[in-house]
Amino acid sequence: MVPVVKMDSVSKSFGSGNKKVDILNDIHLYIEPNQLVALRGRSGSGKTTLLNLIGALDQPTAGEIYIEGQPISEYNEKQRSELRRTKIGFIFQSYGLVPFMTVEENIEFGLRIASIPRRDWKVKIEEALELVGLAKRSKHYPYELSGGEQQRVAISRAIAVRPMLILADEPTAELDSKTGFRMMDVFQKLVDSQTTTIIMTSHDPVILEMIEHVYTLEAQNIVYEKNEIII
Ligand SMILES: Nc1ncnc2c1ncn2[C@@H]1O[C@H](COP(=O)(O)OP(=O)(O)OP(=O)(O)O)[C@@H](O)[C@H]1O
Ligand SMILES: [Mg+2]
Repeated sequence: MVPVVKMDSVSKSFGSGNKKVDILNDIHLYIEPNQLVALRGRSGSGKTTLLNLIGALDQPTAGEIYIEGQPISEYNEKQRSELRRTKIGFIFQSYGLVPFMTVEENIEFGLRIASIPRRDWKVKIEEALELVGLAKRSKHYPYELSGGEQQRVAISRAIAVRPMLILADEPTAELDSKTGFRMMDVFQKLVDSQTTTIIMTSHDPVILEMIEHVYTLEAQNIVYEKNEIII
């Protein structure tokens, strides 16, 4: 089986000279299709950095990253942007909503850039908002919503597209535990539908216990742990 993501000896440093900081060192990672994967680690351990590398938003200092078997270092900027638009959904730590667009316009924007046919937009927007429990807020602007509601709009924008890969940076950080579990249920169903792989970061031990594949970033390295999920 071709892995969705393969990292082969990936290292990442920022800066140079005496300001150089090494964040990731010789990381190997192999993620199979249709898995729900969690990434944890202290603040500053490099979780967002790792997601940015996988999502072709940043480039490694050394090593190679393969997305569905394709080495992305060989991509030019146009191909990288095409990869992000068509295959990857991002749920950013800071939500990344467009402030002057309503909730539904934000989701529509995501569908548009992913080249989803216009005739499907309405249904996909309704369905995605229903899943995150925000069906009644489609005409509101981000500033009219709470932090957790904005976070759920960011989630619905990503899931509306049903991309091959979702990269979710602390998608439940702003949510109460009940709403957080509900989002995990949405993620699990998406993965079970065999269309999507989700890599998410989390600090929350209760959320992490619900996830089968957990990776911990520590001292620039990554350690895998398999959770026994009891349903
Ligand atoms: N563009 C950059 N230039 C210099 N240093 C950077 C840059 N981006 C990230 N870093 C550094 O890399 C380290 C890892 O940052 P990263 O955002 O990946 O951590 P994180 O694990 O996501 O933390 P958190 O849990 O707080 O979100 C931090 O020390 C940060 O200061
Ligand atoms: Mg982070």
